[in-house]
Amino acid sequence: MYAQMVQSEATKDDPEKLAAFQARIDRDEKIEPKDWMPEGYRKTLIRQIGQHAHSEIVGQLPEGNWITRAPTLERKAILLAKVQDEAGHGLYLYCATETLGVSRDELTEMLLDGRMKYSSIFNYPTLNWADIGAVGWLVDGAAIINQVPLQRTSFGPYSRAMIRVCKEESFHARQGFDAIRKMAEGTPEQKKMAQNAVDRLWFPALMMFGPSDKDSTHSAQSMAWKIKMNTNDELRQKFVDQTVPQIEFLGLDLPDDGIKWNEERGHYDYSDPDWSEFFDVIKGNGPCNVDRLAARNKAWKDGAWVRDGLLAHARKKAAAKVAAE
Ligand code: 3HC
Repeated sequence: MYAQMVQSEATKDDPEKLAAFQARIDRDEKIEPKDWMPEGYRKTLIRQIGQHAHSEIVGQLPEGNWITRAPTLERKAILLAKVQDEAGHGLYLYCATETLGVSRDELTEMLLDGRMKYSSIFNYPTLNWADIGAVGWLVDGAAIINQVPLQRTSFGPYSRAMIRVCKEESFHARQGFDAIRKMAEGTPEQKKMAQNAVDRLWFPALMMFGPSDKDSTHSAQSMAWKIKMNTNDELRQKFVDQTVPQIEFLGLDLPDDGIKWNEERGHYDYSDPDWSEFFDVIKGNGPCNVDRLAARNKAWKDGAWVRDGLLAHARKKAAAKVAAE
């Protein structure tokens, strides 16, 4: 159906329609699902919002792994609420993607058979409790920097979903900072765990913003359509500038000797992540890709009876309604 939907966009090359569409974007008008849109715009949105939705769902796995092992009841309750929020974010985003004419089942199948991606960051393991603090602080912190501008994205349903997601993400980042601060201020062993988490997650967090601008295939068109509001490097720099003072406050170090304030640029200089590692991870070769997809495949298979049951119930209700009319 996805392929059919894309092919059936008969007016895709109509220059007048394209110009009128671009004028609406340039006036900062929101594009709504029933409005005419170029095929490429629709495809880009399905790719980006669908990938974003998958990231929220797969992102539950590394944190869910620690719910039963949280050190206190309070931390357990906070983590449980956070992981549950991520499921909600996935739901808003799948709903926004469905308005573009692709079903949630199709999106899930494309994730499961490798046709769609999810964020590279979730292919790294969470090895100690401090990782949960580092994930909340760095990963959700990076996600917020990426997502705040997306509240102004041109597609209405995505923009509205982002407003709610951002409110919840800021709670996530704060709880993460609080958890890692506790570890950084704790015993020498706890501080060591916090430093170890930062050492392993810093560069993968930088990779979340996508490849450097020179290697970003979609940025130019996505920015012209205001699907993306900033380049990958602009947002990465913002994240570095925000995080360096925080790491100093925590009394921890970033695993990068290249971090230095650059008076002329008014930003911190930093070292690039290993981009060959990034491209390898998004090709499926990261430390946890196989486990993450196996977990999602199992959940999809195990949940089939629930989906079938709900569908049968909905069909029965609809038939009863028709019979009563
Ligand atoms: N992980 C996996 N793939 C990535 C990636 C990443 N971090 N960054 C880029 N890529 C992929 C792109 O999908 C593209 O591949 P494709 O053509 O096969 O789809 C390729 O690398 C080239 O990258 P581009 O820069 O050209 O791609 P985009 O223009 O799509 O930019 C992006 C990438 C900045 C991630 C953009 O898609 C975006 O802003 N997405 C919305 C935000 C999002 O998806 N966030 C997920 C983060 S996790 C999260 O929010 C959960 C929270 O709980 C922490």
